Amino acid sequence: MALVPLAILEATMIRCEYLNRRYAQVKDKYHTLIEDVMERGKVFNGHYTSVAEHRLQLLTGRKHAVLTSSCSVSLLISMYAAGIGAGDEVIITAYSCPASETFVHLVGATAVFVDVDETGNMISGDIEPAITERTRAIVATGLYGDMHDHASISELCKKYNLLYVNDAAQSMFSHQHGVTSLSTGDVVCMSFAENKPLPSLATGGAVLTDNTEFYYKFLHLRNHGKPGRRLPYTHFGVRGVPDEDLAVQLLCTMDCFDEWQQRRFEIAAYYDKEFTSRSVPLRPHTTEWNAHKYAIMFEDKFEAQAQLAKLGIESEPHYPNILPQSGNYPGAERFVKQSLSIPVNAHMTDAEAEQVVDTVEQVWKNNIT
Ligand SMILES: Cc1ncc(COP(=O)(O)O)c(C=O)c1O
Repeated sequence: MALVPLAILEATMIRCEYLNRRYAQVKDKYHTLIEDVMERGKVFNGHYTSVAEHRLQLLTGRKHAVLTSSCSVSLLISMYAAGIGAGDEVIITAYSCPASETFVHLVGATAVFVDVDETGNMISGDIEPAITERTRAIVATGLYGDMHDHASISELCKKYNLLYVNDAAQSMFSHQHGVTSLSTGDVVCMSFAENKPLPSLATGGAVLTDNTEFYYKFLHLRNHGKPGRRLPYTHFGVRGVPDEDLAVQLLCTMDCFDEWQQRRFEIAAYYDKEFTSRSVPLRPHTTEWNAHKYAIMFEDKFEAQAQLAKLGIESEPHYPNILPQSGNYPGAERFVKQSLSIPVNAHMTDAEAEQVVDTVEQVWKNNIT
């Protein structure tokens, strides 16, 4: 039997994201605005950065929105703005991508991990026992599209005078008991990476706050310590200033956001119905989530991922490791072994969604030991 070349297999795969289909939808506006950027002659921190920041303020209801090059940079400058560093502790989840932890080490603080529940989100009852006199912040990471436990975390932050950072890279625009994710936290960090609920065409981030002192610090911190080209340095900082291209991409994708969300909800509702009736175990999600990632709990997700790939379905092993280097985190370990994200995106066809359901069911049956 002749082997099918990998490139052909990959081209026909049902994908977690379709940059080509997303681009096709926005490209006319994108090229018009990029031409204007070139006419204006300012590629950093120019007109479209201000427009996108203003639109983010309106969309999120927060007083200040500062675009950055990534959510990782937003998390880092949140720590710097609050003066968190050596000798301080920051409470974070034991289960997420490395970006949910790295910034703590970069500022020289210590990460204190909290295990996750059956949704993959921090067990809020485990947070208070982890607080010590050195704790300075709680980073609330909402995973898979569910919002973190806002009521408990905000109460703890008030009680112990801690910075409340909302790592909303995945949970943006989800809700909890009617409270919208982006309205919570002293500082909110957003990601516009291609696989996020509000994706740009490449990557990018933002930091939101109602605190005007933080706002001015963010303007400096994202730009090596000076807010504009000819302005003096008043602070140290990082190279995290966005370019106009990112702002333009974001303005284009924001126009499509409602339509894309609607479609993701449609597919997720279809999956819920089908997988429940076929008894395929799912990661439980709330009714107020944003349908960002759809995870199936396999007995051995890496085996399932390999089988799905052979059958033409891409999947993502969120995540292949727990974050702590040592300690006992059974909730996070369970997710590392079992949770596999399958395609749920606005650009899938009905036929592709149906094929995903049938193939996942077949692989899940093979995967039962
Ligand atoms: C929960 C979470 N936080 C932070 C990040 C970092 O986002 P960025 O790629 O924009 O730095 C990610 C990215 O995957 C994420 O999933």
